[in-house]
Amino acid sequence: VRVSVIHGPNLNLLGQREPELYGRDTLAEVDEALVALGSVLGIEIATFQSNTEGELVDHIQRSGSESDGFLINAAGYTHTSVAIRDALLAVGRPFVEVHLSNPSSRERFRHRSLLADRAVGTVAGFGKASYLLGLRGLAGHLGVTARQATTSDTEES
Ligand code: DQA
Repeated sequence: VRVSVIHGPNLNLLGQREPELYGRDTLAEVDEALVALGSVLGIEIATFQSNTEGELVDHIQRSGSESDGFLINAAGYTHTSVAIRDALLAVGRPFVEVHLSNPSSRERFRHRSLLADRAVGTVAGFGKASYLLGLRGLAGHLGVTARQATTSDTEES
């Protein structure tokens, strides 16, 4: 089982960017934790970040055929991008939407997601753990039956 993790714009700045909102973990640390949880669950993780909408669309198209599902934090594009929504629908793989912060508790323009109604589910507000919870949810959706992860596993430390 292979999951493609997609990080949208400004997430390359994770750790320095508004840490009170987004936490102090860097993107590399988030990716490492996902790979570690993936190996517990028996899921191969491929990660990608871009600040550019078209590159995100290209990547979704390219990785679609070799991925069983997507874990996506489209960041600011969550609220605006018909193109990213369409790319995900075009490749037809299940996806889980994640956010570090809870967009619903923030400005009004963040309340709308162009992905949420087609996502398997959404996890928001738990910082790095949103990604890990999202991966567990996607794993369950994909029928991954590897050993049930527990808090003694590598994540959330
Ligand atoms: C975000 C929330 C978005 O509203 C924002 O534009 C981001 C990050 C999050 O992970 O909390 O860049 O997706």
